Amino acid sequence: MLLAILCTMSLPVCAQTNASDAQLLSGPFSGQSSCSSSGCHGGAGEKRGTVISFNKLDYHTRSAATLTLARSAVIASVLKISDPSASARCTVCHAPFQAIATNTALVKALDPASGVGCENCHAPGEKWLLTHTRDDLTHADRVHAGMRDLENLYVRANTCVACHQNVSADLLQAGHPELIFELDGQSVTEPKHWREKPDWSGPKSWLVGQAVALRESAWQLTQEKSPTENAINRAEALLWLVKAACKKNITLFGYIAFERSAAVTVSFERAGSAERIQEGSDEFARAVAGVPWSAEATRNCLDVLAGTASDFRDTSLSRAAQARRAERLVLALDRLVAGLCDDAIAKRLDAPLNQLFKDAQSLPDFDPQQFAAHLEEFQKALASTP
Ligand code: HEC
Ligand code: HEC
Ligand code: HEC
Repeated sequence: MLLAILCTMSLPVCAQTNASDAQLLSGPFSGQSSCSSSGCHGGAGEKRGTVISFNKLDYHTRSAATLTLARSAVIASVLKISDPSASARCTVCHAPFQAIATNTALVKALDPASGVGCENCHAPGEKWLLTHTRDDLTHADRVHAGMRDLENLYVRANTCVACHQNVSADLLQAGHPELIFELDGQSVTEPKHWREKPDWSGPKSWLVGQAVALRESAWQLTQEKSPTENAINRAEALLWLVKAACKKNITLFGYIAFERSAAVTVSFERAGSAERIQEGSDEFARAVAGVPWSAEATRNCLDVLAGTASDFRDTSLSRAAQARRAERLVLALDRLVAGLCDDAIAKRLDAPLNQLFKDAQSLPDFDPQQFAAHLEEFQKALASTP
């Protein structure tokens, strides 16, 4: 299984993949106290202040406490879980050290009740902790020592998606919020404790993130005997989106990415295609992470996606499936408009984009014809920009 291989390579936990595999959860972790002394990330000043600002601002610090809320008690009671704070079904994402703490020699350094912490994203610290402070070491040296290469968007997307895309159908039915992974937007929402490299691009991180989300959705379909219609629609919407994003960018992405994207051109309808899509989208994500992005690539994606109104008039597709496409599409348009980095254009597109967000907000009320009409208005406004 492709994903199992990926997990062993680079993921901290593999929430919806192989949660019971102790190997994936093993450290050795060092615990956040190892990062937070004042001479390191716990002091004052830019890099030194990481822990203070993380603890004050980052959503992940409250992920464990969420399991003690009334809302969690409701979800847990439907699932017949007596204590969500102690159940691996929840802690694997919300309090990942809980699962680790019991089988590590470093139990004391870890607070099992803590939320998602430094090492869940940056990789278990023991191997790289001692050397990563040396000034003569480059980022590549640190990565070689075992620190996860989060500067690589493919690696970064894999890290976040493990907790941010798939929850199983019974959790959803019990009232867990649906997860939608979108790397660019969620990286903007998460208070950044880092500076991106100058060649970083929001739209590129968006596309890498969507391709990785597609891989995970396809993987989920291979795992369940009879996947829910909802899970199928979610996966299909991502496939539709990623395919469309490639359309005008084939030469820009270069030969390698084009070769890879050919693997994404199958559809879920054929038997066995979920496996192929899983592999194809993984290769595609990896390839896009490696190619230089350009303003032209952003504009091409935006033009193609703004021109998809006819797909929403296709009455052979169910309304629920259309609603899932619209949900992904508006997030895409939002990130691509932001990625143009042009305030004047963003302002002109603001009203038609807000309208599309409104249309896509409620899945049960979604009206594909109305959405198509509003999408054409967005396209017209876009066409009138330089
Ligand atoms: C070990 C699991 C895990 C990993 C890895 C992880 N997250 Fe989260 N994240 C969570 C949980 C759980 C929450 C919900 C927090 C709460 O309980 O309120 C969350 C919440 C968030 C939120 C606020 C809610 C939202 O969706 O807008 C953002 C933003 C976010 N994460 C971004 C990221 C990004 C970006 C990455 C990768 C760099 C990442 N996360 C990696 C588990 C994880
Ligand atoms: C696959 C990872 C994953 C698993 C497993 C998981 N959660 Fe979550 N959970 C998240 C993420 C990510 C969010 C944040 C969603 C958002 O805001 O977009 C979240 C949000 C929540 C929220 C809403 C928090 C808020 O502030 O709105 C509750 C409550 C919750 N989870 C409880 C649970 C319980 C109880 C379990 C176990 C039965 C569980 N979760 C299992 C990842 C997970
Ligand atoms: C949700 C995932 C996540 C968590 C949790 C997290 N980080 Fe990060 N961190 C990132 C990402 C993504 C980057 C950007 C990529 C990079 O620079 O390597 C980053 C970058 C950094 C950097 C490099 C800053 C720069 O601009 O060079 C430091 C230092 C850092 N993190 C420290 C910490 C510490 C200390 C903690 C715990 C208090 C922590 N991180 C928790 C995801 C995370």
